[in-house]
Order: sequence, then structure tokens, then C-alpha cells
Amino acid sequence: MDTITYLKTFIRDKNVASITPTSPFGVRRVCREINFANSDLIVEYGPGTGVFTNYLLKYMRIDSRLILIERNKYFSSILERTIRDPRVIFVNDSAENVLETLRSCQESEADCIISGIPFLLLSEDMKNRILYNTHRALKHKGKFLVYQTCFQADHHFKFYLDRFFPVVNTKFEFMNIPPLRIYEAVK
Ligand SMILES: C[S@@+](CC[C@H](N)C(=O)[O-])C[C@H]1O[C@@H](n2cnc3c(N)ncnc32)[C@H](O)[C@@H]1O
Repeated sequence: MDTITYLKTFIRDKNVASITPTSPFGVRRVCREINFANSDLIVEYGPGTGVFTNYLLKYMRIDSRLILIERNKYFSSILERTIRDPRVIFVNDSAENVLETLRSCQESEADCIISGIPFLLLSEDMKNRILYNTHRALKHKGKFLVYQTCFQADHHFKFYLDRFFPVVNTKFEFMNIPPLRIYEAVK
């Protein structure tokens, strides 16, 4: 069902950039880097149909908040229809506006921002804008977790992360189609 939804949405919107959601192995591997006990606020860029969202909600504290920033209207409507949890705030907007989003949600800084948006497809200017605003949106020692296809070379994205974050670790998850390259950037 999810794959059909992705395929149909991908045909209409190239920014979806995937014809199937991330596998449970991929979700677990990325989320292993999150300290749920110490996270008051998590932000997710590009939740799609919510595979990461559901996992995050399972492990987040009951008093933490999760802001979902999804640019695609159709995916946004699916999320609002299927996820019923008072900790979640739905935002149908683009990730570069994260600072305005935090302000409108009366939040100042996030502990962790997790992103599945396809950076390879973004212009130079947009990549830098998202990274600049993401860095500002994070607490000191906050984490930016990014999952991309493993076919991306370091110069496609790590190169940009290194300009903004003092620590950037790269990891892989092969039990995903296609395999994932995961970046853990620490402010
Ligand atoms: C590769 S899919 C990942 C979906 C899901 N998180 C998963 O792991 O299966 C990329 C998602 O990012 C969204 N997206 C693309 N550009 C975005 C942007 N600038 N801001 C917010 N979401 C964006 C797409 O609409 C899509 O839902």
C-alpha cells in the first residue's frame, strides 16, 4: 500500500525522490543515534507517509514534542489523517523555513532534526539555506541526522555538512532498497 502511494506521488512530485518508504532496518539504524530520554523536541523533515514518525513516537517521552515538516500536500494530508498523537505538530511547508516553524510552534531549539529530503536534487543555494537554518534551529550538541541513498558520494552532501557542523560521522545500512548512507552531524 505504502509503495503504491509513493509511486503515485513520485510521478507527480520529483522531490519525493523515492518509490518506496525506508525499511524498518533503515529506520532503526538512523534512530539508534537519538537520545530519546534527553530529547524535548525532535523535528522531522520529509516524513512522507510516516515510517520514521511512528517509530519516533514509540520511543519519545510522553512530554516530548515532534514537529513534522512535509512539503508535499498529499503526504501531509495522509499524516494528518493517520497520526493521532497529541505530541505531534503537522506543518505543510519546506524545511528551509524551519526557524519560522519553530517560532510559530512557540519552540526555540530542537534536540534532534532528522531528514529524508533528497539533498542531491536541491540547488546549491537551497542546500546551504537548509543547512544554515538547521544549524541555527539546533541546541548546542544537538544532532542533525540525514539519510540518503548510498550512491551519493561525499562531495554531494558531506562536503556541505562539514562546512556547518564540527563533527560529521558517516554510517551505512545495507538492508534497505537502495542501501542508505547515514550522516550524524553534531552541533
Ligand atoms: C525519500 S522521501 C522519504 C520519506 C520517508 N521519510 C521515508 O523514509 O520513507 C523524501 C520526503 O521528503 C519530502 N521533501 C522533499 N523536499 C522537502 C523539503 N524541502 N521540505 C520538507 N519535505 C521535503 C518529500 O515530499 C518526501 O516525503
